[in-house]
Amino acid sequence: MPPARPGQGWCMRLENSLALLSKGYAWMPDLRRARGRHAAGTRLGGLPAIAIEGPEAARFLYDERHVHRAHAIPEPVQGTLFGKGAVHTLDGEAHRVRKAMFVSVLMDGDRIADLVERACADWDAAARDWLTRPQVVLFEESAQVIAGAVTRWAGVPVAQDEVPALARDLLAMVDGFATGGPRHWRARRARGRREGWLAGLVEQVRAGGTLAPAGSALAVVAAHRDADGQPLEPRVAAVELLNVIRPTTAVAWFTAFSGHALARWPGYRSRLAAADPAFAEAWAHEVRRFYPFAPFIGGRAPRRLEFGGQTIPRNAMVLLDLFGQNHDPDLWEDPYAFRPERFLDRGIGEFELVPQGGGDPRTNHRCPGEQLTVALLAALAPRLARLPLDIPADQDLTISLRRIPARPASGVVLRPAALWGPTAVAPVS
Ligand code: HEM
Repeated sequence: MPPARPGQGWCMRLENSLALLSKGYAWMPDLRRARGRHAAGTRLGGLPAIAIEGPEAARFLYDERHVHRAHAIPEPVQGTLFGKGAVHTLDGEAHRVRKAMFVSVLMDGDRIADLVERACADWDAAARDWLTRPQVVLFEESAQVIAGAVTRWAGVPVAQDEVPALARDLLAMVDGFATGGPRHWRARRARGRREGWLAGLVEQVRAGGTLAPAGSALAVVAAHRDADGQPLEPRVAAVELLNVIRPTTAVAWFTAFSGHALARWPGYRSRLAAADPAFAEAWAHEVRRFYPFAPFIGGRAPRRLEFGGQTIPRNAMVLLDLFGQNHDPDLWEDPYAFRPERFLDRGIGEFELVPQGGGDPRTNHRCPGEQLTVALLAALAPRLARLPLDIPADQDLTISLRRIPARPASGVVLRPAALWGPTAVAPVS
């Protein structure tokens, strides 16, 4: 065997992981079907791993004594999706102090309302333009609307004509994390560009050369001190600013899925279009539950553990099957039916609905942007339903479950209603 070249290590681990991931979202549910309903042993990235699922599994994973995040996230995922030195990779006190920074910016009702208001105003302005065009792609257009709104809300100045390129870069970072091909390299280049830009901005703010609006993500991140009392390195500050504006822009996946759902189940259109906040929120939950986005999360076992009758060796990967849990028939009646009403008359347990993780987002790794995601989607999806645009049949709306992250192949093309035929019906494959 030839000697390993620098950088070859992670390539080989990536290949191995990709072999396992070639089945995409079905990989982990298939594994559990074959080897154990709630806990199945396997190998991932050259390490022993256990795939777990269900509220008890989520409770187990979010117990800090069971799973550590440091050294658990593969370099290709850090180099594209999260960034190096991100909150996702921290444990214990270091995590709590960094997480508090996100909570202060993202989990405040007034600040969320401000972002939603900005995004709705930008959507309405963009929608007037969409009506004048022969057709638009919902995924791309909604990403631009959200990227512009969240970047300015975060206190980061961006000219309107720079927004399309910024949105493309933010989408690329998400789109390329689970593949070794051109999408992956596009993601790395996009991250490099945007980290450089934001690191420079943080330095200017600290030097007093640029003003950051009080309370904005830019001001908070620039002033933040970590558990060691030190400010963030400019590059890490940029990583964390991107961890606000990148995943918010990724809500475009859910607006595209909402377009898919309206094409597939057009009977919901008038109900979603009506200004009923309870139904709009139920819609947001069902879109996040039903459609495939984050496949699984995990970390490393710091010592030998047991779960579901399985022994977990020290240092093994413990992986929670998010997609599988969101379709678990013990939790969701008729889980492969798209039925927003299911969320009108039920509460949601802390460890049940897990598209953005489980448990308490203030203290553990659960997504701190979940309320914001739901609020944004619950505001934008009814606007989508009200647009006088059709979702024509002559497009490829299939969603391949082999592609991570999945999305409707066409991105959901919309055309002015008067010019084109009836709304299409598309399969989920
Ligand atoms: C687009 C929809 C979103 C999805 C599907 C999503 C999903 C997730 C998932 C699965 C995690 C990992 C949870 C864990 O490891 O336990 C996570 C963490 C995180 N998310 Fe989101 N998220 C979304 C939107 C957002 C938004 C809008 C923001 C910020 C504005 C955000 C910021 C974060 C941060 C900072 C973390 C790391 C938390 C930590 O490690 O403590 N996400 N998200």
